[in-house]
Parts: sequence; structure tokens; C-alpha cells
Amino acid sequence: MRWLILGATGLLGPCFVSQLRARGDEAIAAARSQADVNFDLTDDDVLAKVLEDINPDGIINCAANIYVDKCESDPANAYLINTRPLSSLAAWSAKHQRPLLQVSTDHYFVEGGNKPQSETATVRLVNEYARTKYLAEQLALTSPNALILRTNIIGAKKGHGRWVKESLLNRSPMTLFMDFYASPLHVNDMAQISLDLAASKATGIFNVASREVSSKGDFIYAVAKALNINPDWVEEGSGHKLNVARAMCLGLDVSKAEKQLGYHLPTLEQTAHALANEAL
Ligand SMILES: NC(=O)c1ccc[n+]([C@@H]2O[C@H](COP(=O)([O-])OP(=O)(O)OC[C@H]3O[C@@H](n4cnc5c(N)ncnc54)[C@H](OP(=O)(O)O)[C@@H]3O)[C@@H](O)[C@H]2O)c1
Repeated sequence: MRWLILGATGLLGPCFVSQLRARGDEAIAAARSQADVNFDLTDDDVLAKVLEDINPDGIINCAANIYVDKCESDPANAYLINTRPLSSLAAWSAKHQRPLLQVSTDHYFVEGGNKPQSETATVRLVNEYARTKYLAEQLALTSPNALILRTNIIGAKKGHGRWVKESLLNRSPMTLFMDFYASPLHVNDMAQISLDLAASKATGIFNVASREVSSKGDFIYAVAKALNINPDWVEEGSGHKLNVARAMCLGLDVSKAEKQLGYHLPTLEQTAHALANEAL
């Protein structure tokens, strides 16, 4: 099967590319640069031409503007990257009856503390990142072949996971948010579980995360333990002090995915070990 992976050069995309190739599938990596196919996803005409030329058997969309601050300061640009391409991608998926995997977010929940949120839990959209990602889900769902993957990902190559690992190894100053809950999943597990869901012909919205919820701070303590580091210098604080409003009750209930797949998703401890063991 030939897959087109959009956003293939970020934190998550390369995991899909390598795992598809390991499964014997063809994976064509796309981004604005450094990929097999280089183009700007905000150009609808170019996107249509790419789909026509490549004619993939399936599409995985990992492309996004993931930076909450940048989305807030330029919502139009966030819409063009995070939302609008899903109109063309879903139309193409529906017309050709081919799978569209849309990587979404968990950034939708403001109440419930560490309670896991199901796929049908009420969403509250508190910033432009959340609005653009949620609208992308709605556009994707216009294709009956769309699989929406709500997630919280972590990896050592970039972003929060890299910061956590580097800061712990270098004993850098850290403020741990003890009131900001999530269920992070290592990017390699995210790609593997998502491809298993696609292989099972799942469609609609699925939470793909670790099977336990913790505060961001407690997850960092778990990574420190996995690294055999005593984090005696860190400070504990609150996510409410961030500049742009965040949804902070992001733990996801993964029972729907576990039932579909017939296996358990990773625990937080397994995720902490996966991050600790990954090369920077
Ligand atoms: N990272 C997280 O903590 C997190 C948490 C929950 C959900 N997610 C979701 O997971 C998905 C993957 O996130 P990630 O962390 O892997 O993101 P990332 O590292 O920022 O990668 C984004 C990818 O999109 C490409 N891209 C950005 N703008 C583009 C454009 N205009 N045209 C074409 N390609 C473009 C980037 O390459 P170029 O810039 O070279 O084009 C890159 O390959 C996203 O849907 C995100 O919303 C992420």
C-alpha cells in the first residue's frame, strides 16, 4: 500500500514513515522541505496536484502549526495549516474511498482534573490552536474513511520531551505543573497503535494515549526515576501562569481503542521509560 505522510519531518511523522516501511508498505514523506515531496500545504492547488500525481492508497496528516502562542498571534495562518487542508483531504478520501488518518489533539478539556476524557466528552475550545484542530476534525469527518486520532505525544527528538530529558540530564531549572493533566504517549507507540487501528478498519474519533493520566509534573518525576536521577532541584508550579490560556484536563480515556485493538495501550511508566531510553 502506498501512503502519503504529510508533516513527515516533525516529531511524529518520521515514526509513521519508518514503521510503514518496516511493515512493507510504501511511505512518501511530505513537508515544506527535506522530504520526498516538498510543498506548502496551505496552497490548495498544489495539494490537489500532489494527490493526483501520487495517487496514494492512504493519507496520514501529521502536518500542523503546534505552537499555541504562534496560533494565537496569527490565527489565519493557523487555520490555513491546521484546518483548511482537511477539506481537500477529506473530499479526496471520500471520493476515492481511501483512509485518511488525521492526527488531532487532546487540547479540548478544561474540567475534570485527572479524570480520563472519552471521545464524546464535552469540548471547550480555549485558544486558536484548539479551535483550528477541532474544526479540522469536523472537516475530516466529512469523509466516511477518516480516522481521527486524539493524542498527547512525547519524544526525545524535539519539543516538550526533549526539554524534559535535557533539563533532567543537565540539572537545569524546571518548574513542574502539578495542575495540568495529560496521558502522554511515546511517538513510536503512537505511530504503531494508529497503524494498527487503521489496519482494523476503524473510522471516526479514537483517543490514542497512554492508559493512565498524571499531572505533567508527576510524568517528569517518572522520567527522572527512569533515568535514575533524583530531581531534588526542581520547583513545582501551576500551568495557569502560562501566557496563552490552556486546556489543562487532557487525560484521555483509551478504552475504545483498547477494545478495537484487543490489547492494552502503554502505561505512563512504560512511556517514561521509552522517553528515557530514546537517544537525544
Ligand atoms: N507535539 C505535541 O506535543 C502534540 C500533542 C498533541 C497532538 N499533536 C499533534 O500531532 C501532530 C504532529 O505533531 P508534531 O509534534 O510532529 O509537529 P511538528 O514536529 O511541529 O511537525 C510539523 C510537521 O508539519 C510540517 N508543516 C508545517 N507547516 C507546513 C505547511 N504549511 N506545509 C507543509 N508542511 C508543513 C512540518 O515541516 P516543515 O515545517 O518543514 O514544512 C513538520 O513536518 C500534529 O497534528 C499535532 O497537532 C502534537
